[in-house]
Formats: sequence, C-alpha cells, structure tokens
Amino acid sequence: MTDLDTNDLDTTGPTATGPTATGLDAAVAALESARRTTLALTDADDAELTAQHSPLMSPLVWDLAHVGQQEEHWLLQAADPDRTPVFHPAVACLYDAFEHPRATRTRLPLLDATASRRALAEVRGRVLDALERAERTSPGSTRFSAGMVAQHEFQHDETMLATHGLRTGAPLLTATPTPPGRPVRPDAVLVPAGPFPLGADPVAEPWALDNELPQHLVHVPAFRIGRVPVTNGEWAAFVEAGGYDEPRLWSPAGWAHRVAAGLRAPLSWEPDGAGWWTHRRFGVVRAVDPAEPVQHVDFHEAQAYARWAGARLPTEVEWEKACAWDPAAGRRRRWPWGEAPATAERANLGGTALGPAQVGAYPAGASAHGVEQMIGDVWEWTTSGFEPWPGFSPMLYDTYSAPFFGGDYRVLRGGSWATAAAAVRPSFRNWDHPVRRQVFTGLRLAWDA
Ligand code: AVJ
Ligand code: FE
Repeated sequence: MTDLDTNDLDTTGPTATGPTATGLDAAVAALESARRTTLALTDADDAELTAQHSPLMSPLVWDLAHVGQQEEHWLLQAADPDRTPVFHPAVACLYDAFEHPRATRTRLPLLDATASRRALAEVRGRVLDALERAERTSPGSTRFSAGMVAQHEFQHDETMLATHGLRTGAPLLTATPTPPGRPVRPDAVLVPAGPFPLGADPVAEPWALDNELPQHLVHVPAFRIGRVPVTNGEWAAFVEAGGYDEPRLWSPAGWAHRVAAGLRAPLSWEPDGAGWWTHRRFGVVRAVDPAEPVQHVDFHEAQAYARWAGARLPTEVEWEKACAWDPAAGRRRRWPWGEAPATAERANLGGTALGPAQVGAYPAGASAHGVEQMIGDVWEWTTSGFEPWPGFSPMLYDTYSAPFFGGDYRVLRGGSWATAAAAVRPSFRNWDHPVRRQVFTGLRLAWDA
C-alpha cells in the first residue's frame, strides 16, 4: 500500500498558491491531489477492495469508480450529453448513490479495480483536455465545477478512510506523526453578542458549495464555547460516572437509541482490564490517549455528555462565528488563524495522521477569539438541523444538498484529520444522521453567556 503523502493533501485549493494563481491551475492541482489519495487508498488486492468492511460503508471499489463516474457526469456529460461516455449508462447507474444504498453495493456487478482505474484515467485525460479548451474559449467557466468535482473526490477519500478505520484485518495504512499537545485550560471562551456575516464570501471562497451560500448577516446573542474539543480523558470520566446509564442526561430519542444499540462507550472502545480503555482503528489496537479529542461518538452521545458537563452543544451559527469572526477587525477571516493557507503547524488535515492530534497541538491555528482546533482533528456535532440559508439556490450538482434539507440530520463543522484542506472552510457544512459514529466525529461544548 502506498503511503499517503502529506504534501499532496494540504496545499491545494482556490488560492492556496496565492491570489495570482489562476483558478483553473488550482482546480487541476486539487483534482490531481485527490486522485493520488484515491489511488493510495485503493492500492490493495481485489478481495480487500470488494469486501464489505461494514454495512454502513461501500466496498472500496465502489468509491473508486464512483468518483470517476461523477467526474465524467459533471465535467463532460453535463456539457455534451451526446458524447460517447467512458462509463456506459448501464454501468454508470451502478454508481448512483440514491439508487443503491451502501449496504447493497457489494451485490452489484461493479467494475473490478483494474477496470475502475482504467476508466478513471480515461475520464481524467478527457477532463484535462476539456478544461483547457474551455479555459481558452471562456475563461473561468469551468473553475467552479472542476473545484466542486475535486472536493467530491476528497469527500470520498474521507469516506474511504472511514472504511479503512473499521477494517479488522492487518493494517494497510501507516500513520504520520502530529505535533505534541500542550496543556490548555479547557475554559469557556466568551463570544460577545453582535452581527456576523454567516456563510461564505463567494469572492474569497470561489469553491464554496451551494449550502454555504448566500452569505447573510445574522445577529448572534453572546455565548461561550469550549477553547478545545472534549478529550478522551474527559469522556472516560463521563463513562465512569455512569453517563451511559442515566436516562435523564439523554433526549428520549437518544436514550432509545442508546438502549437499542447497547452503547457503552465510543465506537470500538474496549475495557483494557486494568481500569482504562483500548480501541482498534485501522487494524491497530492501542490504548486510548486521554489527551486526544474524543472521536467516533454520535450526536445523541455528544448531547448527553454536554448535559452531564453542565453545558450544551453549539449551534452551527455559533460555531462559525467562533471560528471565523475577527472582532477587532470587524470582519471574517478566511481561516480561524487568518488568511494564510493551512499548514501542518496550523491544523491536522489531509488524512495522513489516521487520527486527531492531542489537544493543544495547534496554538498557531487558534481563531481570533482564541478557540483552538476548530479546523481539522474531529468533525464537531452541532445542535442544528440541516436547512438551507435564506436565498439558497442549488448548484450544478443540484442533488448534493437539497434532498437532505429538513431530514433528521445534524450539521457537523470544521472537518477532521481525514479532510483535505481544499474540501473544508469555516463556512463548510457537513451533515449526518444523529446515530452515526463511524465518521470522525467529536464535540466541543457551548454555554449561554
Ligand atoms: C457531505 C459527506 C454528507 O458523503 O454523504 C459525496 C458528501 N455527496 N457524494 C456524503 C457526498 C455525494 C456527503 N456528505
Ligand atoms: Fe459521491
């Protein structure tokens, strides 16, 4: 298995190489970076790639071909429906996520890994030609769609990392180290009341997806938010205090799920027989590190923990303000730390760490309010359901967000260690069902001011 290369993962994005880079160069760099990751995550034998490692996940060979099928659909077929496709319609439909739920995908007559890689390369060659041609005749016309498709592939790279995380066989991936943590008082940072431009500025963020737009002014009452994410050490205290056995800490739906699913601790935590915990991730069993942000908890567990701690979860609007608002300058920052791109000193992104860094590892990544590790490490549950911002209009890929508005989903913010820098922003909105915990999810507390 090829190791993931950090340098491939953290340096792409619309303005990563500076404001003078052409939008198309940035999109092509992101497409290539995502592809290197995709190929590294599927560099395994056919049995490994066609296996169902969890009913919650696709076989890796499905994600592999799906990213190419979607690339062809949005970057070639949408512009020229009469062309001869690489993915024949009878094959393309196997990769329709709405038609085929994840649990059923191993039963489909999928392309094997070799045929998938060949199709991906064929699509990519044609895409690069088409983008270059379009840029000559109509500059700028394909930059968003190319960036959108790169982000889609990066999202599936994260999904494939979640599949790898659940695998029980011998390890296939090796972790690269993250900076050590430092002691941080886990205090409650005040974010004063005031107006805040919620959502992406489309000029600063040309790759913002439809659900991040349009930017609009909101008034956010004062609140407090945790300086750092909740740690494994804190979570272990909640378990020890009987948090999983106290229905009053849980919502009715959360308690029903806790009982039905037999939840006792985060996903894959096992008692080590000596009063502490181990977990198995990426095929490796190791002691739970009390200094790392807790990972693999669902929304209901996060909510129960918050109640036990005398707190609540933030709303997604509070989260975004604590992340992006610069009160001294009276404007948004592009990243919590400022305008400079994400680097290994500022955030744990890109998928190479195979887990979150310890709390306190990124003082250089703090927001203007002093809140740390908002971007990268773990997706953070918020209390918000997934709804459109006022004035929402769907992008080219019109079923990316819209079919999911109004469901039982909860919004997740900030990206995880498995997210590419080009696929996350302070305005980026992820969502999942409140019972899901195979995703790299954690939490940060909030309080009324
Ligand atoms: C935005 C992560 C919820 O994986 O379900 C990938 C992203 N959409 N292909 C998902 C997505 C279509 C989506 N999330
Ligand atoms: Fe997809």
